Amino acid sequence: MKHSMTSTVTLNNKTTMPWFGLGTFLSPVGETTQNAVRWALEAGYRHIDTARIYDNEQDVGQAIIESGVSRGNIFVTTKVWNDDQGYETTLKAFDESLKRLKMDYVDLYLVHWPVPGLRNETWKALIKLQDLGKAKAIGVSNFMIKHLEELLSKTDVVPAVNQIEISPFIQRKPLVEYCKKCGIVVESYSTLSRGKRTSDERLTAIGHKYDKTAAQVMLRWALQSEIVIIPKSVHKERIIENANIFDFEISAADMTAINAMDENCSIMPPAWEPETSDQWK
Ligand SMILES: NC(=O)c1ccc[n+]([C@@H]2O[C@H](COP(=O)([O-])OP(=O)(O)OC[C@H]3O[C@@H](n4cnc5c(N)ncnc54)[C@H](OP(=O)(O)O)[C@@H]3O)[C@@H](O)[C@H]2O)c1
Repeated sequence: MKHSMTSTVTLNNKTTMPWFGLGTFLSPVGETTQNAVRWALEAGYRHIDTARIYDNEQDVGQAIIESGVSRGNIFVTTKVWNDDQGYETTLKAFDESLKRLKMDYVDLYLVHWPVPGLRNETWKALIKLQDLGKAKAIGVSNFMIKHLEELLSKTDVVPAVNQIEISPFIQRKPLVEYCKKCGIVVESYSTLSRGKRTSDERLTAIGHKYDKTAAQVMLRWALQSEIVIIPKSVHKERIIENANIFDFEISAADMTAINAMDENCSIMPPAWEPETSDQWK
């Protein structure tokens, strides 16, 4: 099991990635994101997830520089946004992300969404970036089984990671099994249901047994399911709370109870649901 905030999983290209990190979607540009990253690093986080579309890469980079933690000890992920997809445009977008981050490599670069007609060319650009050593590992996000099957039929380079929405309320078990079978590490986003269901009575009751909050139970449940987590907060006390999940173990019975809470209920608007929306055919 995962013993600490800095415990890592080995990816399919032998690089390593911490099981636990900080998300930054909707972390406002400027001081708010810089503070969140600073507090996270002070609390012992060593993995930060950002993206071009979050508009805060420059703040993530600045906070990392000012933290005094050496670059080599922090795992940084960013992602190519949809309107930059395609081969040349992805290479250009990557270099612009690096500039904003003030870094000379990222640890993980992801195809943010499976854009029809472009996603396979985008993947070729990511392979190039990995070959150049500019991205230590490459992966995808919001890829469903159909997208992965298509990609794997066209490439020899299997994505190291698939970052997808997973919480007790949307568990995507067939996709998770498929990824594990292919050697793709599953990374969850919105594991806290974006804060919408952190008062769920069943999770709160389970949390009482361990002297933990429902949010901590949601995160620990994902970790014990062998899923990487990147909870987002801009509040210091929550950044610390979300990291305080390495001193307890959810019992097998409680894991079973949480596994039974799956409703296949996404927090994303229907147009963004990667399984069913026509946007991602
Ligand atoms: N690849 C993709 O398409 C994709 C999509 C979405 C997200 N992501 C990544 O995944 C990360 C996490 O997902 P997310 O931001 O959507 O959602 P999340 O981590 O499930 O939830 C974040 C929300 O929950 C609140 N929160 C944080 N800790 C809490 C706690 N202990 N108790 C109660 N509420 C709490 C936060 O509020 P405060 O900030 O006000 O504390 C924020 O509103 C993102 O930040 C991003 O890096 C990727």
